[in-house]
Amino acid sequence: MTAPFEFLLLDITDRIATVTINRPDKLNALNAAVIGELDRMFGELATRPQVGAIILTGAGRAFVAGADIAEVAAAAATPAGLEATSAFGSAVFTRIERGPKPVIAAVNGFALGGGCELALACHFRIASTQAKFGLPETKLGLIPGYGGTQRLPRLVGMGRALQLIFTGEMVDGTAAAAMGLANSVHPPEALMEAARSIAREAIKNGPLALAHAIHAVTAGADLSLDDALALESKEFGAVGRTADMREGTRAFLEKRSPEFRGA
Ligand code: COA
Repeated sequence: MTAPFEFLLLDITDRIATVTINRPDKLNALNAAVIGELDRMFGELATRPQVGAIILTGAGRAFVAGADIAEVAAAAATPAGLEATSAFGSAVFTRIERGPKPVIAAVNGFALGGGCELALACHFRIASTQAKFGLPETKLGLIPGYGGTQRLPRLVGMGRALQLIFTGEMVDGTAAAAMGLANSVHPPEALMEAARSIAREAIKNGPLALAHAIHAVTAGADLSLDDALALESKEFGAVGRTADMREGTRAFLEKRSPEFRGA
């Protein structure tokens, strides 16, 4: 790592990086410093071959309780205003989503506003029964500004998304799983192992295949079906030129486990 992180903890065990947002006295609210550190952390993890997958979680009783409201209020009064705030956070979250490694949000508690949007930018969400998801921005006279108006309807449908945005209501992990906002829900003490177990399965597979799958799914989501299918074919062709693909198919035919090298 290039420099220490003030608000992030990092553990790397068995090729799984666990990044913990650590600002518990403010329920891990996202100020510009935290968002900047997330950008740097994910950028650095993307380039580390010894990391195969990333789990993102929060310290204490929150995943992230939103953008830092004090900072949002101050930014609104600056010449650049909240458009610049939104553009900055949104760009960082999109870089997280488009990175080359699976990113799993382990949602341990409040995932509100920018916290819900950060979880939405992860590839999927594993929730604790104690998780509380919500987009309460309209209660503050705001709208979601870090991708929530776009990623939430794509994930759960426009009707459910607009209900959450209009009311600002919180839904727990069980309700989030029922609407597809979370992939699964677990007792708090089982949350991290549930996330790690999925990460372990993913990193058995070819790292280049995972990266190309992320690109095909995330970039393809906004294209027409014809263009998205053409993108898929291009990505399929690209993985077909890798040594990992030759190893994966050879290992199947030889009835042994593959040894992927990320090449
Ligand atoms: N921005 C800045 N500070 C925040 C914050 C946020 N989004 N969310 C929580 N905090 C701070 C509180 O101000 C408080 O700080 P203090 O102890 O210095 O006063 C601390 O975190 C603990 O929060 P508190 O409100 O006392 O906890 P609670 O259990 O009573 O309530 C919440 C929890 C999540 C319901 C409540 O904190 C809340 O509504 N937060 C804002 C959620 C939100 O609107 N997010 C979208 C922002 S755009």
